[in-house]
Amino acid sequence: MKAIAIQPGAGQPHWVDRTQPTITAANQVLLRVLRVGICGTDREEILGGRSKAPDGQKELVIGHEMLGRVEKVGDQVTRAKPGDLAVFTVRRVCGECLPCAMNRPDMCLTGKYQERGIWGMDGYQTEYVVDQEQYLVRLAPELADIGVLAEPMSVAEKAIDEAGRIQAGRLPQASAAPDWWFGRPCLVAGLGPIGLLAALALRVRGAAVYGLDIVPEASARPQWLLAIGGQYINGQEIPPDKIASLRRSMDVIIEAAGIASLSFNLLDALGANGVMVLTGLPDGDRPIELNGAALVRGLVLGNQAIAGSVNAARDHFQLGVDDMLSAELRWPGHVAKLITHRYAAQDFATGFSQHPDDEIKAVIEWAR
Ligand code: BGC
Repeated sequence: MKAIAIQPGAGQPHWVDRTQPTITAANQVLLRVLRVGICGTDREEILGGRSKAPDGQKELVIGHEMLGRVEKVGDQVTRAKPGDLAVFTVRRVCGECLPCAMNRPDMCLTGKYQERGIWGMDGYQTEYVVDQEQYLVRLAPELADIGVLAEPMSVAEKAIDEAGRIQAGRLPQASAAPDWWFGRPCLVAGLGPIGLLAALALRVRGAAVYGLDIVPEASARPQWLLAIGGQYINGQEIPPDKIASLRRSMDVIIEAAGIASLSFNLLDALGANGVMVLTGLPDGDRPIELNGAALVRGLVLGNQAIAGSVNAARDHFQLGVDDMLSAELRWPGHVAKLITHRYAAQDFATGFSQHPDDEIKAVIEWAR
């Protein structure tokens, strides 16, 4: 079968031929790939960034944001049946640490995990994939159009979950409140797909969501945010250190821009007892200058917490697809507007090389 692969460190994606996978164990599921999203990580891999081919192979099949249809299941599989829509998660367990033993490879301690399409294991830009049921999430048929967003949504869900758990563990009012997110001022920094999906998950919870970016308010991404009841902050007009005085100080910040200097500047917008979760991976090694003493003082005197968050557990995918279904009911058809570009598999080169200004999410279509 056909697959799109790169040679890590060396450039352009190209076709490779792979043996079609089959079910070889009772806990496995075979999916027909329907479509696969393209994200910043794929484009970085192509530019020679972080990626690793499977052991003994020169090439890596890319792609980690997928939607598929179940073709066949092993005898022990109970979560899905042929015909169901489903996605596989990204990270695979190391087999050595406790989090991995609990199906939380997103919290792997050894660093010996694998990531499909990124790190040591072929990804999803191909026709069929097989994996274990523990990495499978079934989707309602209503999510056929937008299910391919389940992976970026899961990354947003994990960041929000971490913020909530950190606060519930330390703030008396947070652990007691049944509806803690409702009305809570939350800033999402960077309105790419992860940022917009984080804004969506927060709006589903009723939070007061502010989105920060540097594009004109009339452009597509801020307008998408406004339509779900979020508010836009144009960073060209209101820098991070003015957000608290001109708008509000934030209880929670979800960072999804991947710009190190911005991440630290955002602390100026964080209120007392606030938490900031970082999800963006800055590239390069440019040093930044910081007033370290003032920064630490602010953190200590303000009881503030900063956490990094990568990847996501199966449960975060489940939360994500549940929230997408709620969003579909509340803002019908709106989430689908995030998928701005669709390329047939044979046109993949255009999809990967172009990054038009109006692109939010581009996907490669493998089957209907
Ligand atoms: C993916 C994550 C992955 C991370 C680091 C992101 O693009 O969404 O699943 O863990 O890259 O490789």
